Amino acid sequence: MIMDGNGRWAAERGLPRVAGHRAGVETVRRVVETAPGAGVDVLTLYAFSEDNWSRPPREVTALFGLLEHYLARETSRCLEQGVQIEVIGRRDRLPDALCRAIKQSETRTRQGTRLRLRIALDYSSRTALLAAANAAPGTLTREDLSRALGPDVDLLIRTSGEQRLSDFLLWECAYAEFLFTKRHWPDFTGEDLMNAVAEFRGRKRRFGGLEAAEVAQLQTA
Ligand code: FPP
Repeated sequence: MIMDGNGRWAAERGLPRVAGHRAGVETVRRVVETAPGAGVDVLTLYAFSEDNWSRPPREVTALFGLLEHYLARETSRCLEQGVQIEVIGRRDRLPDALCRAIKQSETRTRQGTRLRLRIALDYSSRTALLAAANAAPGTLTREDLSRALGPDVDLLIRTSGEQRLSDFLLWECAYAEFLFTKRHWPDFTGEDLMNAVAEFRGRKRRFGGLEAAEVAQLQTA
């Protein structure tokens, strides 16, 4: 999920941008709570991109503070609910306290099997692709790269009206279905997630081939 529109949500209410991010954390809670029941077993949230470093330092610091707070507050609940927390992206530029919180959450929740929650932090898909390619000893296969990066995306949801990938899971989205909603991230609800998954289930995915029904029709023709 590309969680977009926190700033616009705040501006519409005459609030500072960080108030939008704070409200966005509540949405993260709702979505994580709803995801397993909606049939989602891997959920990747784009929390901070490499390009987000160009934001004012105050906003960056506030975002890292919110993330640290979220991990401190939600890890026990995630543990209870069988949610495994995993952070993807660079760690070397993150504040030490946040790195410690990440390590703790990852270690404490590593046995979770109901939902794999991946939080993309200081993340760039291009950087991740380059790192995987450079770490490979010989010729890379598709399987090697997929293993190094993570599971393929079935459904990509972006809130707040923009229709772009913004350097998120480029390889993994090769056959993803896209769903864009005008709703700002802080207004996104558990029901919105349920509806999105229902819409996804109704899509005809062909992966470049034909659907089973089309093949059957050809065989009977
Ligand atoms: C995009 O909105 C949102 C972000 C860059 C940050 C997302 C972070 C959170 C929701 C909070 C922490 C996350 C977790 C996983 C606990 P924007 O600021 O670009 O909004 P705008 O386009 O309206 O300005």
